[in-house]
Amino acid sequence: MTTTNTTSKRISLPVCNHKPAPYSGPSKEQLLALRREYLNPGILTYYKDPIAIVEGHMQYLWDETGKQYLDAFAGIVTVSVGHCHPKITERIREQVGKLVHTTTIYLHPNVVQFAEALAKRMPKGANLKQTYFTNSGSEANELAIMMARMHTGRHDVISLRNCYHGGSNQTIGLTAVGTWKYPLPSPPNIKNATPGYCYRCPYGLEYPSCDVKCARDVEDLIRYETCGEIAAFIAEPIQGVGGTVVPPPEYYGIVYDIVRKYGGLCIADEVQTGFGRTGSHYWGHQNWGVVPDMVTMAKGIGNGAPLGACTTRPEIAQTMKQRLHFNTFGGNPVSAIQGMSVLEIIDEEKIQQHAAKVGGYLKDKLTDLMDKHDMIGEVRGMGLMLGVELVKDRKTKEPASAEAGQVVELAKDRGLLMGKGGLYGNTLRIKPPMCITEADCDFLADCLDACLEEVG
Ligand SMILES: Cc1ncc(COP(=O)(O)O)c(C=O)c1O
Repeated sequence: MTTTNTTSKRISLPVCNHKPAPYSGPSKEQLLALRREYLNPGILTYYKDPIAIVEGHMQYLWDETGKQYLDAFAGIVTVSVGHCHPKITERIREQVGKLVHTTTIYLHPNVVQFAEALAKRMPKGANLKQTYFTNSGSEANELAIMMARMHTGRHDVISLRNCYHGGSNQTIGLTAVGTWKYPLPSPPNIKNATPGYCYRCPYGLEYPSCDVKCARDVEDLIRYETCGEIAAFIAEPIQGVGGTVVPPPEYYGIVYDIVRKYGGLCIADEVQTGFGRTGSHYWGHQNWGVVPDMVTMAKGIGNGAPLGACTTRPEIAQTMKQRLHFNTFGGNPVSAIQGMSVLEIIDEEKIQQHAAKVGGYLKDKLTDLMDKHDMIGEVRGMGLMLGVELVKDRKTKEPASAEAGQVVELAKDRGLLMGKGGLYGNTLRIKPPMCITEADCDFLADCLDACLEEVG
């Protein structure tokens, strides 16, 4: 058993039979020095004293000294079924020995079989059938917007405040959290509507007496700020980077109806919410009873592989045929076999059902911590997509941003890796690989309890 406590209270990670291989690479200090010299300094690192992660097995990671961590952030919500899942590793090894790359100008079984497997997992009756594979979520969202504009012949696109859709030119434009936007001219024809963020309602209203004003306001936004005809609406079913923001249940139904009334297509960005993570459904949007016209995905679909995709109906996909278009590595045989294996494992290991069960267990434990820690303003989320918003004062809801940073640092020292998000960086993001156990959840909650106590 690995113990990773740094203070008087001893909290232990669950036993893991995996033994990391001895590490013989450069020291952490050397890695940091090389990084400082040769990587673009804009590339983000977590932690004041960044850690080097050199091995992973399922929900656990190890640093270069052999210290074990529970990865409650799954890379960045990228590892869905476990780090280095044995079945995936085996399949990749086999594929790498045969063929790594030629591009989709030739036929290959992996890419088409993967596309078929994905189509079979789309909501019934939606005819979401044809996929364009990419290498990232940003590329998938770029494609979706491009297709929506060409299919409708319109230009205006609506995204939500507090959303994150990527780091490329158009997707930075869609993204509406200032900390993620460079001071550059925004791409045109993008408007931001109000999300269903009840804890910080911008209108100061209460649900349900608010009559979901945030959703209904989308109509005014379209009428005042666009020509009254729009190309698309894009949104995350639960906002991820924005701090696990779960809208009221009727929010998306109302918005989708308005968007369609003004001729727009609805795009569900399932980069974080897809593949069973919300527990109750395979896709995040299914929690809200809506059917999108396009689904974009990345992260969990590849369990760590650079893989993204945009799936839509054939008549929308058809629009891409009017010019030449090409993605050199999209749908390559290695990423495709990795993605297909993920789909199979989610079914075989009943990952979605597990996310519902263990996610519910963890959410209850985190909610229980509210009795003890006033700093917890809200615990929210679904399945294994959870958020804990920290505040200095429950009444004023003043964000406890510095404290959230301290909690994340202290948790790391104790062997727990978590994310942080929201405009104020005050929401802890807990989105582990979906193979996490109840024993891991006990460790996580105990560890968080101790860290909050120390910071409080
Ligand atoms: C909801 C959502 N969409 C899109 C993206 C962009 O994905 P990528 O970083 O693979 O380009 C992200 C990344 O965090 C995301 O969370």
